Amino acid sequence: MRVALGCDHGGFPLKARVLSVVADCAAVTVDCGTDSNCSVDYPDYAEKVGAEIVAGRADRGILICGSGVGISVAANKIVGIRAGVCHDTYSAHQGVEHDDMNVLCIGARIIGEELAVEIVRAFLNACFTNEERHVRRLNKVFAIEKRGLGGN
Ligand code: RB5
Repeated sequence: MRVALGCDHGGFPLKARVLSVVADCAAVTVDCGTDSNCSVDYPDYAEKVGAEIVAGRADRGILICGSGVGISVAANKIVGIRAGVCHDTYSAHQGVEHDDMNVLCIGARIIGEELAVEIVRAFLNACFTNEERHVRRLNKVFAIEKRGLGGN
């Protein structure tokens, strides 16, 4: 699996540990920055990670900001991205199994390193079940995306 990882300054304190966990679980890690505690804007990193997935260079993404919220809001604006904030292991695997979540968002100011490690592992080890009811619901999500309500 190829995983794109991005964070803002709020997520940076968790980045090195998450990178090493991803390296243990995934074949390839695409590091989309940021690379320091200097203040940056989370939408830029959501977009970098989303672009890797949309272009087919990554299968999944992990985004880290202070709360996980801003970066998930930004990522979900990208067609084809299904991002969720998960601060527990159940959501991290069930989000993939039922909802085909392809981007995990976590808040470095909300959870500690060890929980983040378990959440990342749960996310990366999970697969979409392809069960009929989940496919049906996912197709409804795609239909909403396609209708593009509120655009222009
Ligand atoms: C940055 O200070 C912070 O606002 C950002 O990391 C994130 O928490 C936004 O949701």
